[in-house]
Amino acid sequence: MKRYLITSALPYASGITHLGNVVGSTLPADIYARFCRLHGRETLSISGSDEHGVAITIAAEKAGVTPQEIIDKYHTANKLALEKLGIHFDLYGRTSSPLHYSTAQEFFTVWLEKGLLTKREDDQFYDSDAEMFLPDRYVEGTCPNCGYDKARGDQCDNCGAYYNQLDLKNPKSLISGKMPVVRKTQHWYFHLEKFQEWTEAYIEGHAAEWKDNVIQQSRSWLKQGLAERAATRDMKWGIPVPAEGAEGKVLYVWFEAVLGYISITKQWSLDVGREEDWKKWWRDADTNYTAFLGKDNIVFHAIIFPILLRTMEQDGYILPTNVPANEFLNLEGQKFSKSRGWAIDLLQYQEMFPEEQHVDILRYVLTMNMPETKDSDFTWRDYQARTNNELAAILGNYVNRVMQFAYKNFDGKVPAYDNAKPVTEHEEALQAAVANGVKLIAEQMDVFRFRDAATEAMNVARAANKYFNDKAPWKSIKDNVDDCARTINVCIQTANTLATLFAPLLPHTAQKIQSMVGSAVNVGEPNTTCLYDDAWTAAGNHTIAAGTQLGESVILFTKIEDDTLAKGMSMLGSPEKTEGEVEKPAEDLIDIGEFAKVKLRTGIVIAAEAVPKSEKLLKLQVDLGTEQRQVLAGIAKHYSPEDLIGKTVVVVANLKPAKLMGMESQGMILAASNAAGELALVSPLSTTIGGGAEVR
Ligand code: MF3
Ligand code: ZN
Repeated sequence: MKRYLITSALPYASGITHLGNVVGSTLPADIYARFCRLHGRETLSISGSDEHGVAITIAAEKAGVTPQEIIDKYHTANKLALEKLGIHFDLYGRTSSPLHYSTAQEFFTVWLEKGLLTKREDDQFYDSDAEMFLPDRYVEGTCPNCGYDKARGDQCDNCGAYYNQLDLKNPKSLISGKMPVVRKTQHWYFHLEKFQEWTEAYIEGHAAEWKDNVIQQSRSWLKQGLAERAATRDMKWGIPVPAEGAEGKVLYVWFEAVLGYISITKQWSLDVGREEDWKKWWRDADTNYTAFLGKDNIVFHAIIFPILLRTMEQDGYILPTNVPANEFLNLEGQKFSKSRGWAIDLLQYQEMFPEEQHVDILRYVLTMNMPETKDSDFTWRDYQARTNNELAAILGNYVNRVMQFAYKNFDGKVPAYDNAKPVTEHEEALQAAVANGVKLIAEQMDVFRFRDAATEAMNVARAANKYFNDKAPWKSIKDNVDDCARTINVCIQTANTLATLFAPLLPHTAQKIQSMVGSAVNVGEPNTTCLYDDAWTAAGNHTIAAGTQLGESVILFTKIEDDTLAKGMSMLGSPEKTEGEVEKPAEDLIDIGEFAKVKLRTGIVIAAEAVPKSEKLLKLQVDLGTEQRQVLAGIAKHYSPEDLIGKTVVVVANLKPAKLMGMESQGMILAASNAAGELALVSPLSTTIGGGAEVR
């Protein structure tokens, strides 16, 4: 049987991890790992801090402290913040560990031995004021690919291009603010190009299963052709290059951070006292390996990391089976931007919303907005609506009703299920919904469609509510206690089923439900033995014995009020203004109430004729469902009457009637026109919506 290795991209320990990192990789990795464990799969989940590179040294310089202080601070803070969000890895390690140093250096040594590295002198940007070379993000400039003027020295945040620094236009040193000079320095260049064909075959071999964004980006990179890349940098902070003449040089962060997945697994092995265990995870073909990441990391995980693993072929290193990358999460319609403060970091969120329920609410809202195939938007309005209308009104309400009923009428014990009576139609419907949910969610999890999985889990909760309503136990308690008991028994078993189905997504809630219904707690937590029962497949089974004492009944979710929105918005800095843009005067804008004053309705044109002596006007009879209106429209130059009969148009239905050429017009129909003088009637994208439908 396959074992499941799961990694999440390692957040930089240069700041607090933000919702973009969480939704991009740490949360999906946690959801998938919990699912795998619940499904009885041998599972190992690994993440940790990326502690080298310019991201770290710049943060240290800004704070006026050493890089070591920065990574210690943020590693600890991020580990804790993620744990609080229920994101639990088997190990959240660090790339500053001695084991990581030795692992990365071993790889480098092999590359040297295999002739995959060439040492040579080449031009590099240099800041003569600061007397240092300027690797990667120490330089900013204009992207050679898209022209974005705040591109970083190694990668463009706007178009995702990943280039050699010297190609940057208008370079500027981040240290002195001046244009850097070019100086020669020695580096070791890795021959990625030797792997061109091999990588093409690897990517194409996975084209059917991998996400589109990953395949497209990889292909476009491969199309440009792989080229050699410097694998070393002139920096003090980092892993020393294990070669002669390499003083003052460290490994380039992207050639070692990805190896952190391996070194952190080694660390885990040591910690659990089975030193050799890491090998079965990384060097055995029975491992299915999923690497979660954000889209800005695609080339490193889909191309460079596999190449680095391939260099260790002789030792049987495996390759990623899948590298699901998420797109970006926007906030309130705007791109995340740390510098403008248009960002939410996890600590900020946890301080603002310390109440327990907000942990799973955030997991749920992020999952429901996961940017799986395209950028998505996080809004506080949606946060409130999903909490109130889904978590509280559907899932929370169901569990709460069942618990209260059982306490009130059955003494807080699981009532008996009388199986002498046949299965009723309602019970059958519920069983079908549960069986379908168990199967469907598992399928969706395995293709990393977590939004769909969450939607489906909520559908099962809807079916459970429906069952409770249909069976109306508040009636049967009066005249058919046996049937009522059986209903409540089924409801309690179903609450237990829901706990399992929601466990990967809402582990805290699932745990509470399991305690309430008197079932053993299992929410797919990491455990050192890696061996589990398949609780997932059994999720629909009725396993709670009649007579079991129920646990204390707790409210899972309380509705949140409008002030939450204001609190949430207060975490955000200033929205983006493009340069030169002036703030719009408030009188240009209308609020939703003003817009709502305009009543728009669909209407079907049932008659149309030209208006004598008018070049412009047509006289239309429009059916608004409940009434018929005569409308005079200035469209005669663009439409002939017979074109219009039977068409669905949009009518302003509450416009004061007006007289035109002696005839009454009872409304106006909407049309779009452009500067070239073209005109087109506005029509709904439907042939069945009919007349009288509201347009909003
Ligand atoms: N620290 C990187 C980032 O936040 C991700 C590194 S993933 C690793 O973009 F595997 F390379 F560590
Ligand atoms: Zn660009």
